[in-house]
Amino acid sequence: MTRPVIIDTDPGQDDAVAILLALASPELDVRGITCVAGNVPLPLTSLNARKVVDLTGKDVPVYAGCAAPLDRPLVTAEYVHGRTGLDGPALPVPVTPLQDIHAVDFLIDAVKATPGITLCPLGPLTNIATALTRAPGIVRNIKEIVMMGGGYFEQGNITPSAEFNIHVDPTAADIVLRSGAQVTVLPLDCTHQALTTRPRLEALRRLGNRAGVVVAELADFFERYDKEKYGTDGAPLHDPCVIAWLLRPELFVAREVHVTVDTREGLTLGATVVDYWRVTDRGPNVTWVRGINADGFFALLGERLARLP
Ligand code: RIB
Ligand code: CA
Repeated sequence: MTRPVIIDTDPGQDDAVAILLALASPELDVRGITCVAGNVPLPLTSLNARKVVDLTGKDVPVYAGCAAPLDRPLVTAEYVHGRTGLDGPALPVPVTPLQDIHAVDFLIDAVKATPGITLCPLGPLTNIATALTRAPGIVRNIKEIVMMGGGYFEQGNITPSAEFNIHVDPTAADIVLRSGAQVTVLPLDCTHQALTTRPRLEALRRLGNRAGVVVAELADFFERYDKEKYGTDGAPLHDPCVIAWLLRPELFVAREVHVTVDTREGLTLGATVVDYWRVTDRGPNVTWVRGINADGFFALLGERLARLP
């Protein structure tokens, strides 16, 4: 039995690696890739998603979604991802077409038609929140929303208290967390342990295929900012952790907790307030992934990327 999933994404080098991992994994039936504005504006995130699908030689529909957050101007991250959002390798103009229906329409139709589907948001939650707002009933068809975002023990990366995906559209994140869906969060607490150290990257570069070289070149570019910022050996490979959770959840340590998103303007806008030690009477609303077996994660990533062209 394959697991039907939709990847919602703002490529972004780490998003690209997540898409490659998903498309290289036969356990997953990727029904579509929906793009959202985030790391770079929507025209670039949707172009980049098409380039990444091309690398796999697979036929996966790509859709463009929301070009701006629900109720605030878009904030992007070219300082991390480069002007194109996919700086690093030279990737050709894509063959994979952009579908002509809006990503939110696709999300609603696909969820209605696929009971038990999993949504994997890797960027700001604007598309997902818009779909849930327009068609609240679809939540009963969603098996799990597995998202990258937030932070508690590792609080913020775009502000001292907020992680980028949540900070860009905190209202959307709040809608998703209140939706009643089963939500699993891969926060900075987890992804900051998945570092692109030199030995790990060289193992990918030496896979002997184009995918391995491209991933290494994406990381070569992507890691420079975080290595400088955190002084670490390598950068956190955030988004592929979402896909690895679907494939091998035993690689992770998680806990059911209550999470609230701060939607108030100011220094803590977009903070994920996690009742990790259960000091309130608020029942859990998310599965919060705090730990990862990083060596096991990179071994899985290498094994799967090796299956690509
Ligand atoms: O904070 C990291 C997240 O923001 C990742 O999903 C990265 O791609 C950016 O979208
Ligand atoms: Ca992302």
